[in-house]
Amino acid sequence: MLEAQASAPGKIILFGEHAVVYGQPALAVPVHDLQATATVQERARPGLLIRADDLGIGVRLAEDAAHALSQTARLVLDRLGCDEPDVEITIRSNIPVAAGLGSGAAVSAAVAQALSTYLGRPFETQELSALVYEVEKLHHGTPSGIDNTVICFGQPVYFVRDKSLELLHVGKPFQLVIGDTGISSPTRIAVGDVRAGWEREPERYNWLFEEIGKIVEKARRAIEQGQPDKLGSLMSDNHHLLRDMGVSSPELDRLVDAALSSGASGAKLSGGGRGGNMIALADESANLAVEDALAKAGAARVMHTTVR
Ligand code: PMV
Repeated sequence: MLEAQASAPGKIILFGEHAVVYGQPALAVPVHDLQATATVQERARPGLLIRADDLGIGVRLAEDAAHALSQTARLVLDRLGCDEPDVEITIRSNIPVAAGLGSGAAVSAAVAQALSTYLGRPFETQELSALVYEVEKLHHGTPSGIDNTVICFGQPVYFVRDKSLELLHVGKPFQLVIGDTGISSPTRIAVGDVRAGWEREPERYNWLFEEIGKIVEKARRAIEQGQPDKLGSLMSDNHHLLRDMGVSSPELDRLVDAALSSGASGAKLSGGGRGGNMIALADESANLAVEDALAKAGAARVMHTTVR
């Protein structure tokens, strides 16, 4: 039986979310412990079916055309000039949904790559990233393109909207603790609120975006020069600017405070905000204490990852 499979990682934004939508740079890294995998199998019955049993999703291309997964498959078929094949695409993912960890983009990337491989023309990475960006646009309004880029390339990136990609060289690995508020927060809403704020108070918001841009440049230098110890205060400064922008929440602030008072050298929300995740910089000696403090402060789940 014909079969094809592809996977894509989750991601976290280290610095620069929201400001990146307005042309400032941002830094993001893949989280390879989090993966979405799509498997395409030939089936005897007609039509293309997509299933994600863990998420309670089952869609048919012909009947559920508006669903994000159908749109992903449709874009692949249009791009390759293929008719609808008789296949079942099964998705498995351990990436939390609507949590700022790139679940939507990773699932789209895995489906698109598995299907293009099955059809005998696997996409080049840039082509895949552009296709996932099209799907993101259908659902998020004005995405910067950072999620599809870091997820499809699977490497740390320095990203500026509409500019060619620069990979981020990590001079010395460092550890992050990720705390999930457990509050699902669609990126579209936070991004829309920032836009409304920017339209209301353009000068203040432009200033916030530029200050974040300066932090990103400093963080890039620290990461590339192998000085991750300099990142803590930059993370906290970035968090304060995001809070001033209105995209934090009491839950995110509580987790950030808990991380800082248990030995993290910096912490910030990561991604769209309001809910979703925060990240804390904690070296080996502080890791367990920070994880413990986040759990006690109400984190629905605590993970950790090494950026390398
Ligand atoms: O997908 P999330 O929640 O990690 O957020 C993406 C980052 C934003 O800057 C808020 C939006 C964007 O398109 O860049």
